[in-house]
Parts: sequence; structure tokens; C-alpha cells
Amino acid sequence: MNVLHIVGARPNFMKVAPVLNALKEYANVTQTLVHTGQHYDVNMSDVFFEQLGIPAPDVNLAVGSGTHARQTAEIMMRLEPVVLERQPDIVLVYGDVNSTVATALVCAKLGVQVGHVEAGLRSFDRTMPEEINRLVTDQLADLLFTPSEDGDENLRREGIPAEKIFRVGNVMIDSLVRLLPSAQKALTKTEVTTTATKPDGAPALYALVTLHRPANVDDSGTLKSILESLLEVNRDLAVVFPAHPRTRKRIADFKLDAGQLRVLDPLPYVDFLGLQSRATVVITDSGGIQEETTYLGVPCLTLRDNTERPITVSIGTNVLVGRDREKLRRELSRVLVGKAKKGTVPPLWDGHAGERLAGILVGRPSPVKLLI
Ligand code: UD1
Repeated sequence: MNVLHIVGARPNFMKVAPVLNALKEYANVTQTLVHTGQHYDVNMSDVFFEQLGIPAPDVNLAVGSGTHARQTAEIMMRLEPVVLERQPDIVLVYGDVNSTVATALVCAKLGVQVGHVEAGLRSFDRTMPEEINRLVTDQLADLLFTPSEDGDENLRREGIPAEKIFRVGNVMIDSLVRLLPSAQKALTKTEVTTTATKPDGAPALYALVTLHRPANVDDSGTLKSILESLLEVNRDLAVVFPAHPRTRKRIADFKLDAGQLRVLDPLPYVDFLGLQSRATVVITDSGGIQEETTYLGVPCLTLRDNTERPITVSIGTNVLVGRDREKLRRELSRVLVGKAKKGTVPPLWDGHAGERLAGILVGRPSPVKLLI
């Protein structure tokens, strides 16, 4: 079986790693890794490959940045010949980024089977580019691997036949489980240099912040107000803020003041995981971090009005605070007095999702090639 994996952006490197590893166990599987180049900086891409032990991509499409239409179209144009040449039995796509939807479109039109890893998530907010990507990809995919029951329900409601849906659990948590011991080993260098330490050497309390959603960072008024809230948080709790390049650029373009916040470059996976596991609280608008904090039992305050990962709210540690400064203050006070929401880990978020997925893939009869 010839499997082609397509990744391109930071959150999906953590998702492909366990699937690559699990499929390696099958002698009859040949794997090809394509990087679209959607994320291209060393600290947004290369360092993740290194830490996660992902082999260098067989093909790099080097598309870089652009508007959504340009980036998506560029990926489609550069990917089509690769798919035609490699003739995969199935192409696996991950998450909800532009690389995911572009690949699904190319493969669906060539009649090549597509498997969507992390299918079925819905925020029900079509102003989010990722929601459009999720909806289209799931309609086009032949196999849909979901992380939780809500994913199955969403897909069924959208008319996807049950036999295409496989609940395998959360592949991103597989990477977390594998690398948490090294992340926790000692104080990471980052921690020592970014947070004050107590006399006994233990890290002081801190809030770990990430922010990159267009809805939060692309409007100067909104970003200004969020930074002001974070400066308020910083009075009670050191704010450590590894900033996405998009966010850093906007802060500079809008000439905003991040004041005393400890703004850092994006961090490598293991370093970020170490910081996350020890944080007093995480404040974020990321999707994956809502899941990781739920697994780690760390309180998470999400600067969004909705989430495509509702299980992190219903049984995890996540609280949606939107852009309501009062709610952020209130929830932060609860954390500081030890009354943060306690969560549990969702079923199948156990470090073995990649293995379940590989078993399903390999156990199926070989797909019939249609158009190529
Ligand atoms: C993308 C995903 C988002 C995911 C996020 C994680 C889409 C629609 N969005 O958003 O779902 O949560 O990645 O990071 O696919 N840039 C760099 N260096 C890089 C990559 C990006 O400087 O290595 C800058 C560029 O200025 C670019 C901007 O970041 O214009 C945005 O990058 P892009 O990939 O378009 O979207 P993200 O905001 O990263």
C-alpha cells in the first residue's frame, strides 16, 4: 500500500508523526511525506521535524505565504503532478489548514482516496477560515478519522455514511504522551530565562499565552484590547508569550505596546510542552492547545466565543472567555485561588490513536483506482 501524507503547517507535524510511526510497522506499506511549505521558518517547521523524529520530507512544495486563494491554489497546482507521479493508494490529510483542503480538492478530482485525520470538528462559525477547510475536506474525504464522539455526530448530521467514519482518538495527544517525559525532565532553558524562579529553584507561577487567530490579531482595536487584558494579567502572574509570526508582525505594524509581557519567538514543541505542563494557566486562541491543556489538567482560558473542540469544555479544563475582559479577570481569579475547573481526559486520548488508525487503514481492501 502506497500512502502519501501531506502536511504544511505547525499543528499538523505533531499529528503526522504518530501515524508515520505506526504505519512503519507494516512491511507492505510504503510512505511518502509531502511538505507544502505553508509554514517555512525554522522555528515554525524544521525544529518540529527534528524533535518529533519525522524524516525529512520526500517532496517540499515550498508554497510560502499568500492570501487564502493564492496559498490554496498554489498548493493545488504544485501538488497535482506529485500525486499523478506517485500514484498513491490513499492520501492522508491532517487538521484544518489550507494545505488540508487544497490536497482534498486535488485528490478528489483525480479520483484518489483521501483520509482525513482529525475529521468532524466544527465550531459552527464560518467566519473562521479553518471551519471552511474542515467542512469541505470532510465532504470530499473517503475515510474520516475522528478524535471524539462529537466529531462522529457532526459528520452523520452532514450526511456522511457511518461506514466512512472511524473514531480513533486524538493523534496529537500521541505525540504529547511520547514527548512529555523529556519535556518535563528539568527546567528547560526557556523556562529559566523567561520566568523568575523561586529560591528553591522551582519555577514561579506564570501564564502561558499564544495568540494568532485572524479574528484576534488582524484588527488593531481588538489586538490592542487583548494586549491590555494581558498586561492586566501580568500584574498578578508573569505572562510568557511565544508569539506567532503573524501576531508579532501585527503588533509591530499597529505600533502596539506589549509592555512587560515576555514576548518570545515561537518555541520548539518540547520546550513549549514543558512550559505548558508547568503553567499556572494557559491563555490561548489555538485549537490544539485547548486539547493539550485538557490532557495535562492545566486550566485553559480560550480567547474565542466558540470552539470546534467542545469536549475540552464539557469534560476538560477549558473555559471560553471570548473577548470579555471581565470574564477573563473572573476566571483568572478562580485559578489564582485554586478554584480552577477540574477536568478529565476524554476517551481514546491515550497515546495510541495512530496505531488504531494504521490498523484500520491497512486492514481495508485495496481501493480501486478511478481516474489516474
Ligand atoms: C495556520 C492555519 C491555522 C493554524 C496555524 C498554526 C490556515 C487557514 N490556518 O494559520 O489553522 O492554527 O497555521 O500556526 O491554514 N508566517 C511566517 N513564517 C512561517 C509561517 C507563517 O512568518 O513559517 C507568517 C506569514 O507572514 C503569513 C502568516 O504568518 O502570512 C500567516 O501564515 P498562514 O500559514 O497563512 O496562517 P497561520 O496564521 O499560520
